[in-house]
Amino acid sequence: MVKKTLIIVWGTKCQFHSLVALLFTFVVIAIYLTGETKWRVEDQAAIKTNPFSQCNLFSGKWVYDNNSYPLYKEHECTFMWDEFACQKFGRKDLNYQNWRWQPHDCDLPRFNATELLERIRGKRVVYVGDSLNRDQWVSMVCLVESAIPPTLKSKHINGNLLIFTATEYNATIEFYWAPLLVESNSDNPVSHRLPDRIVRIKSIEKHARHWTNADILVFNSYLWWRRPKMKLLWGSFESPDQIIKEVEMLRSYEMALKTWSEWLDCHINRTKTRLFFMSMSPTHLWGAEWGRPQTENCYNETMPIFQEGYWGSGSDMRMMRIAAETIQQLRTRGLKIQMLNITQLSEYRKEAHPAIHRRQWVPLTEEQKANPTSYADCVHWCLPGVPDVWNELLYVYILLKSKTCKECLDYIAVQVQKEAETVNKELILYQGQVMMLL
Ligand SMILES: *[C@@H]1O[C@H](CO)[C@@H](O)[C@H](O)[C@H]1NC(C)=O
Ligand SMILES: *[C@@H]1O[C@H](CO)[C@@H](O)[C@H](O)[C@H]1NC(C)=O
Ligand SMILES: *[C@@H]1O[C@H](CO)[C@@H](O)[C@H](O)[C@H]1NC(C)=O
Ligand SMILES: *[C@@H]1O[C@H](CO)[C@@H](O)[C@H](O)[C@H]1NC(C)=O
Ligand SMILES: *[C@@H]1O[C@H](CO)[C@@H](O)[C@H](O)[C@H]1NC(C)=O
Ligand SMILES: *[C@@H]1O[C@H](CO)[C@@H](O)[C@H](O)[C@H]1NC(C)=O
Repeated sequence: MVKKTLIIVWGTKCQFHSLVALLFTFVVIAIYLTGETKWRVEDQAAIKTNPFSQCNLFSGKWVYDNNSYPLYKEHECTFMWDEFACQKFGRKDLNYQNWRWQPHDCDLPRFNATELLERIRGKRVVYVGDSLNRDQWVSMVCLVESAIPPTLKSKHINGNLLIFTATEYNATIEFYWAPLLVESNSDNPVSHRLPDRIVRIKSIEKHARHWTNADILVFNSYLWWRRPKMKLLWGSFESPDQIIKEVEMLRSYEMALKTWSEWLDCHINRTKTRLFFMSMSPTHLWGAEWGRPQTENCYNETMPIFQEGYWGSGSDMRMMRIAAETIQQLRTRGLKIQMLNITQLSEYRKEAHPAIHRRQWVPLTEEQKANPTSYADCVHWCLPGVPDVWNELLYVYILLKSKTCKECLDYIAVQVQKEAETVNKELILYQGQVMMLL
């Protein structure tokens, strides 16, 4: 373990700042002093040991910043989707585009599309999940596409896959529709609005073989599980001796994530593939939760919630815990997986949903038109908007793990200077870990 980590460090092409080089010497000594166990533990703690995270990136507040935000213009993004194009569909108040996420203990690095494209050169990035994951995929495509000339980017569809290609970088950013991760009767990317949802709880291969070899995988799955009971199927949809059982929500979710994690454990190349799991995306369906009348929802909201720690009843902490535990187990099995805990920060953004300003798939009834609250979409997010910040957080993780992370090294250099007087072994170890990650 120790030996391997050292080789990784020696192998980097980073231009070491002299202070960093000095730090490096300490790290080498520290490794020999503390031995192997320590490193295993820190390996698994990833974010806690990188410089941005003596800082919890997910704990912070929204700051109005119309100088830096939005990061792109809705109408300038060639790949925008009508479900998320709130301005195009008549939203007048555009302040939802101007909020920056400010962690309490550090600043996020500014998103740099060229930098990200360099990091994913020759690679395949796949978002796997439901329409919220697709929201985030569209956001990522919009974030990077402005850095690419028109002839060098394209999009095409291949079954459940939507593929954005950055030709010059030989890189793709893809979205794979699998709202429950495992197989189900809702797997058709277009017609999946079925009254009776049936999940083939033990089967994932039909989907997974399309993304297993990706370099970066970003999963989500939450809202589609939110019903008191789920019909689970053992056997195949066609088989005559199939068994269908109704199983309660938490148990079904747990079983699905087990199927998913067992697949990853057996099939993912641990040196190649980095995995991310997005925690649940909150909804704003019940105005009473933030002090409005019972009948209201996100419709007509124009400001975020500023009450720190605000948590809506749609975000099920028990399900988050199940996901977090599954991920923790995968980490102990040596997979490079990270949960991006975006629930709390998104909870604050009651005003950032499309509400009625999006393409409607089904024509509205007179009754609905008379009462906009009744058909407001308080689940998805307008773009530019909240999913951009999810991707900015993802960007931090992708940067930190790449080989020539100049920003990381600069950051360490500054930290080392700041801490020069009080350097102790523990600190060196923690900062040194970043170099191990480079
Ligand atoms: C996610 O972040 C929130 C707020 O910072 C915290 O309360 C919650 O425990 C975190 N969840 C996990 C699984 O880390
Ligand atoms: C930013 O917001 C401030 C205050 O609302 C306003 O005065 C200013 O004109 C805005 N700037 C831009 C570029 O929109
Ligand atoms: C973005 O990244 C590219 C490639 O690393 C770099 O050349 C450029 O200066 C960066 N832009 C900004 C504004 O930092
Ligand atoms: C492009 O990337 C793929 C992997 O995604 C690789 O197999 C292929 O060789 C690359 N092509 C070029 C021209 O670099
Ligand atoms: C895993 O990925 C690494 C890096 O891409 C590659 O060198 C190695 O051959 C892969 N291992 C397997 C078993 O495919
Ligand atoms: C929404 O806001 C508009 C303009 O402020 C107001 O006229 C309308 O009554 C509001 N609708 C609801 C349902 O609150």
